[in-house]
Amino acid sequence: MLTKLTFERFKNFEKAELILGPLSLLIGTNASGKSNIRDAFRFLHGISRGYTLADIMGEKYIEAGVLQWRGIRGGLREATYRQAKRFALIINFNVQGMEGRYFIRVEPGTTRSQPRVVTESLYCDKELIFASHPRAPYESIKQVEPQHLKVRIPPGGNYRKEHVETFIAYQPVLSQIEERLVEKRNDDKAEEIRHFIAETISMFDSMRFLDLNPEAMRRPSLPGQTILGDQGENLSSVLQAICEDPRQKNALVEWIKELTPMDATDFKFPTDQMGRILVSLIEENGQRISAYSASDGTLRFLAMIAAFLGPEPARFYFFEELENGLHPARLHLLLQLIEQQISKGNIQMVATSHSPQLLRFLSPSSLDSASLVYRLPNRSDARIRRILDIPDVRRVIKQHDLANLHESGWFEDAMVFDEPEIVK
Ligand SMILES: Nc1ncnc2c1ncn2[C@@H]1O[C@H](COP(=O)(O)OP(=O)(O)OP(=O)(O)O)[C@@H](O)[C@H]1O
Ligand SMILES: [Mg+2]
Repeated sequence: MLTKLTFERFKNFEKAELILGPLSLLIGTNASGKSNIRDAFRFLHGISRGYTLADIMGEKYIEAGVLQWRGIRGGLREATYRQAKRFALIINFNVQGMEGRYFIRVEPGTTRSQPRVVTESLYCDKELIFASHPRAPYESIKQVEPQHLKVRIPPGGNYRKEHVETFIAYQPVLSQIEERLVEKRNDDKAEEIRHFIAETISMFDSMRFLDLNPEAMRRPSLPGQTILGDQGENLSSVLQAICEDPRQKNALVEWIKELTPMDATDFKFPTDQMGRILVSLIEENGQRISAYSASDGTLRFLAMIAAFLGPEPARFYFFEELENGLHPARLHLLLQLIEQQISKGNIQMVATSHSPQLLRFLSPSSLDSASLVYRLPNRSDARIRRILDIPDVRRVIKQHDLANLHESGWFEDAMVFDEPEIVK
């Protein structure tokens, strides 16, 4: 599980820290920085794909001009806070009972230079896995060129002492180092390092950024395609895979009955001439509704359930505007579904929301990791504060409803009053 993300001069965060729980709800006004947080997670995910920094931040095309990766909003030019030279992200996490900390500092470069890694390190339980040389930036080591990064690797095998290897600085070391270790070392320590690196990469790889689109969910898909796309692609084949297991199917039917007024009692998966399938919902009275005419909200619910119950769920979901397209009366059920699934312990979710009601329905443990993203008047940087760390909040929420406080802008006001120079 990811436990903390720290930003240094990334997008509109000069210095900020986001504490993460199983469900981390982000609230905040428009343009406060919620989606910039999503960009930071996407950056980490991009690393796991083995891309160069230019690909991660720009765009990645494969043959025939097919877009494979959309890059980070604002690309290279708008990645750093107010045109600063470098940005850094630090992620703390737990994996298999070990505590990891990954740090990456990047120089996006100018129109004439490529983006490159300036500092990078990975620690496991405070023990070095790898770290760029303390004097790594090329300015200070004469023999190192800007395209190279010197990296310290712990001793083991033929290496009695910590040794230094040179890596290409245009791609994160995290996605290059495994291969290098395989080439050069076969000792136990190298095996341990490789294992931890593989776990870290797999955690970044297992991130999904759901941005559901009814049009994509209505597209037929091929049986066996069991990974739900970010826009809800492959919905029909993921649902079909769920329905193959009677227990999972039962859970699916129960949830859809609760979440929509439709009395769907069964699902069918008719095949077209190309072998593709499109889900149909069977109502109690026998009426059959295909995904083409199911409502947008019903499809959104189906996709969320599919994301959790499908055979290949991700370990981390970032969900923008959770309440989108849903009736407020159904929100608490959606939240219940999410909280129930993440309480099983292998799925984590960060979600943004503008809905005051959602805050009201949060369980105490989810409220614990809900955060406010905000900007102060006349300041250009954005900040993040855990809602329960807002001054006086614990007393105030005993007397006032969280949704009303959200609606009235109380959280943002409280943060302004917390800054003495702004108040006077
Ligand atoms: N490099 C940068 N330096 C400073 N500020 C930036 C930078 N890049 C983006 N921003 C600021 O971030 C804002 C956008 O933030 P973001 O898209 O995360 O908002 P949001 O909280 O998701 O809003 P909404 O609720 O409307 O989606 C921009 O309006 C801009 O002010
Ligand atoms: Mg946004």
